[in-house]
Formats: sequence, C-alpha cells, structure tokens
Amino acid sequence: MFSFATTFILTLFSLLTLVVSAPIDARDVYVPPVLYPRSGTVWSAGSTHNVTWDISDPPKQITNKRGMIVLAKGNLLIGLDSPLAKGFDILNGRQEVTIPADTAPGDDYSVVLFGDSGNNSPKFTISAPAP
Ligand SMILES: *[C@@H]1O[C@H](CO)[C@@H](O)[C@H](O)[C@H]1NC(C)=O
Repeated sequence: MFSFATTFILTLFSLLTLVVSAPIDARDVYVPPVLYPRSGTVWSAGSTHNVTWDISDPPKQITNKRGMIVLAKGNLLIGLDSPLAKGFDILNGRQEVTIPADTAPGDDYSVVLFGDSGNNSPKFTISAPAP
C-alpha cells in the first residue's frame, strides 16, 4: 500500500516541477546524479557526511540553483518538513548533512537531491547510532 502512496507523491512532485518549469526550455532542467551515498554505504544515525553529486555537465542556464536534500525511506520522502540541507548552491557538488540521531536503522534509505527536479541516490543503510 505504501508504495502506491509514495509513488503517487513522487509523481506529484514531478508533475509539480513540470508545471512550474513548463515555460522554461527543457534543456535548462538540471538534475545532477547523486554519487554518494551509494549502494553499500552505511551511515550511522547522528553522523555527518558529505552527499556528493556529479556537476560535470551543467546546462548554461539553471532555473533553480538552490538545492535541497531530503531523506527517503523506501520510496517515501521522510523529513520533507525538515530537509537534511537546503538553500545551498547546486553547483557545489557536495553538501554536508547530519543524519538525525533518532533515525530508525534500515537498509532502504536514500537521499533525494532537489534542484529543478528530484534525483534519488541508490539505497543505502543507516545503522544504530555509534555508542
Ligand atoms: C565535507 O567536505 C568538506 C570540503 O571538502 C570538508 O571540509 C568536510 O570535512 C567534509 N565533511 C565530512 C563530514 O567529511
């Protein structure tokens, strides 16, 4: 049941982005792929890491240079109200984030990088806080 709702939410986001950016040239939509965390990454709750993404091929015009990083579990965006980071320059290629200490351990987490649109990292693992 969850996956339908979450797919719906993600689809809604994409549609919203399309509507918002409709008058703008499609080539300007910039969705850099997330490089880290990658599949197999383990971050403990409460720890701080750099999320990195590929900025090797930016378009000349970027409609929204400000980025936002949101944690997702399964296909569900969690913490949309409290993004891991926001307002940073999407062309930095990296952003430090701290995983909330109360994040439940799980192996189906991902981070979603939002610029003009959203882009998921591969699924990675969050373990219990380090002792
Ligand atoms: C993230 O990257 C910056 C710049 O390279 C570095 O100064 C910082 O120590 C890094 N943070 C972590 C948690 O690795």
